[in-house]
Amino acid sequence: METKKKILVFGASGMLGSFLSSYFGKKGYKVIKSDIFDNQQQGVVGKDITNEKELKVFVYEQNPDFVINCAAYTNVNKAESEPEIAYSVNAEAPKYMAEISKELRIPFIHVSTNEVFGDGVFDENSREFNPLNQYAKSKRRGEEYIENCGGANYIFRTSWLYGPGAKNFIRFVTETEATEEKPLRIVVDEKGCPTYVGYLTERIEEAVESKIEPGIYHACSSDMLSRYEFGLEILKAQGLEKPVVPVEKKDLPPRPVVSPSNQLINTKFEKVPTSYEMLEEYVSDIRIEKDDYSEKNR
Ligand SMILES: NC(=O)c1ccc[n+]([C@@H]2O[C@H](COP(=O)([O-])OP(=O)(O)OC[C@H]3O[C@@H](n4cnc5c(N)ncnc54)[C@H](OP(=O)(O)O)[C@@H]3O)[C@@H](O)[C@H]2O)c1
Repeated sequence: METKKKILVFGASGMLGSFLSSYFGKKGYKVIKSDIFDNQQQGVVGKDITNEKELKVFVYEQNPDFVINCAAYTNVNKAESEPEIAYSVNAEAPKYMAEISKELRIPFIHVSTNEVFGDGVFDENSREFNPLNQYAKSKRRGEEYIENCGGANYIFRTSWLYGPGAKNFIRFVTETEATEEKPLRIVVDEKGCPTYVGYLTERIEEAVESKIEPGIYHACSSDMLSRYEFGLEILKAQGLEKPVVPVEKKDLPPRPVVSPSNQLINTKFEKVPTSYEMLEEYVSDIRIEKDDYSEKNR
């Protein structure tokens, strides 16, 4: 019988990390979960990834076949006022992970963002980086460190990531009450490629199963759409109806950070789903999860 690999997941309590850990666990992998805080119920070991020595000793002791980094400082607004923390989590910590993985001769998988680029359309070979805010700059610095470190590194860039149990745009559109007098107002001049954590996890699985070589990958929906268009898709996918009107960013209170409108072009994966196809999968997965929960609690 084939022995499944042992994978060490940092950020295992986060949106992507918790989905990915449970996905690999169900597939029979031995998953070691870590995040900033201990969570004994979930089997999560508390480690602060910004502590170089502790991090490296932990990886060494666990002796995994793969290290996957889903941990990040993701509060884009707050990163403006505490950039040093964003840099230590998003740049220094992945550097330590890449270094120890190289030393142990194991592959390292890191997750990055469309925000390393400014406005436009970018494939995996694009080097016209233009991070527009502190979060984005810290993420790009993390990529640079990993690229310079060498070793068997995978960088998966994704965009507008969503998944179960997280506060995100889908929940905002789904849960915010709207009337004809007070419709939902969603911007048309911010564009991206919304991506379900399930899609990204399956692409990461290709790396874990050695189906793809180390390198840079763009894992996101095949189409770029505005927040407004995505909002309409979110409602349609769930059979919901509510009044929504398109607005421009200038019509809403100003946000503390600038985010790009861009499209990550993927030239490596085949048959990439559209944003709507990913949403349908998400909605169906959520339904199964809810059914399982009510079945168990009957
Ligand atoms: N969400 C998006 O729209 C999006 C888009 C593109 C790319 N990405 C990238 O995708 C990856 C996953 O994002 P996500 O949305 O799943 O993030 P998330 O939900 O914020 O999860 C990140 C996890 O990392 C933990 N963490 C933060 N600082 C840490 C530290 N010093 N030591 C150990 N753990 C620490 C966080 O703990 P706390 O919550 O307690 O801080 C959290 O559990 C990230 O690399 C992100 O940059 C996300």
